[in-house]
Amino acid sequence: MSDRSLLVVVLAAGEGTRMKSRLPKVLHKVAGRTMLHHVLAATSAAGATRTAVVVGPGREDVAAEATRIVPDAQVFVQTERLGTAHAVLAARAALEQGADDVLVLYADTPLVRPETLARLRAPLAEGAAVAALGFEPEDPTGYGRLVTSGDELVAIREEKDATAAEKAIRFCNAGLMALSGKDALSILDRIGNANSKGEYYLTDAVEIARADGRSAVAAKADVDEVAGVNSRIQLAEAEAILQKRLRLSAMAEGVTLIAPETVFFSADTVLGRDVIVEPHVVFGPGVTVGDDVVIHAFCHLEGAQLAPGVSIGPYARLRPGTRLDEGVRIGNFVETKAAHIESGAKVNHLSYVGDAHVGAGANLGAGTITCNYDGFFKYRTEIGAGAFIGVNSALVAPVTIGAGAYVGTGAVITSDVPEDALAIARSRQVVKEGWAKDFRAARADAKKKG
Ligand code: UD1
Ligand code: CA
Repeated sequence: MSDRSLLVVVLAAGEGTRMKSRLPKVLHKVAGRTMLHHVLAATSAAGATRTAVVVGPGREDVAAEATRIVPDAQVFVQTERLGTAHAVLAARAALEQGADDVLVLYADTPLVRPETLARLRAPLAEGAAVAALGFEPEDPTGYGRLVTSGDELVAIREEKDATAAEKAIRFCNAGLMALSGKDALSILDRIGNANSKGEYYLTDAVEIARADGRSAVAAKADVDEVAGVNSRIQLAEAEAILQKRLRLSAMAEGVTLIAPETVFFSADTVLGRDVIVEPHVVFGPGVTVGDDVVIHAFCHLEGAQLAPGVSIGPYARLRPGTRLDEGVRIGNFVETKAAHIESGAKVNHLSYVGDAHVGAGANLGAGTITCNYDGFFKYRTEIGAGAFIGVNSALVAPVTIGAGAYVGTGAVITSDVPEDALAIARSRQVVKEGWAKDFRAARADAKKKG
């Protein structure tokens, strides 16, 4: 990685009207994390020494997300939306602090990779004053065009200001730009707004640098990496691109996906070797899966840690705070939440295990339910190692089942069960010989008499 200092300026002051949302655009999520988070993750990975985020007026929510991801990020408010150069200059105080390199990114371009940022920035170390990132979209309409001459970038022309010949250029401006830190402010301060939109165009940096006798260059990126998100349709397109990347990288790292197109990951999903994921599985944020885990079809996981050799599903739902130790088996229609289940324990059918600790080797029969909530507070259930809970048992928390204890089928357990004890908590069975036959005869007789 470069030893040059890097100031990143992320523009997040867009209104995002086309999203038709109460939520600011850059807080919409792709693969379980906000677009702003994706961009900041990429810039951190690319070695940002300082980060400035430019937000719109009153956007404390965007500012909070920025500092949640990069705690020492500086947040600047662009009070009026007067163009991309004006937006960068909202971060003037950060630019004045100086840096070898300055990178400008849009927060609504979430798919850019750290390697691409490194490539964009590299020419600055060789003396270039400006580097822009270009791509070739299927339809260039609306994008600025990169006017090149050999290796040199001559100008970036906004569509509205372009000649017919310039409009014919297919090499378009993605919007990301690298500027030499010592020249950035002087260049930005000379950008005017004498153009068809009356905006301060960041793209004018190219011609200003060249007029100073400095060089400007263009790097090229894949369309899939620089796709900007302006609408819900483009949000879904970005999601699809990222899911494809996440699936390919999971498989490259030794995970079997039987039907990759049906498995959905979060950007932070961590998977071990020889994990098998059957079709139709959704990984929400915060999931870590150890080696040799099998995830059967139709599972939903979020905030869960699975140790090696665990098997879950089909149709299991693991909610936040789930921790499954080695070899645990979770079967069909089982829901867990804030539950630590120790090694070798089994919860195989139709159970809810919430706010609970289950000791090693315990067996929870079909339909075991922890009754953890009274409508006001949550309570814990402790199940000792090797305990056996008979089917269809309700464990009314707070309650402790001792290690090695046995709970008879159909119990409603309201008080603690000692170690190695048997607890039977159901009404006694009553049998009346011949009762049903007599009942039918009496009813038939009554019906005949009308
Ligand atoms: C910009 C580029 C264009 C490029 C295109 C790629 C300029 C002048 N044009 O055009 O060459 O092809 O992006 O998508 O830079 N923003 C602010 N404050 C502002 C203006 C913009 O924060 O005052 C932010 C927006 O939120 C957005 C980004 O900057 O994230 C781009 O702004 P936008 O108005 O969409 O620029 P384009 O006209 O699309
Ligand atoms: Ca745009």
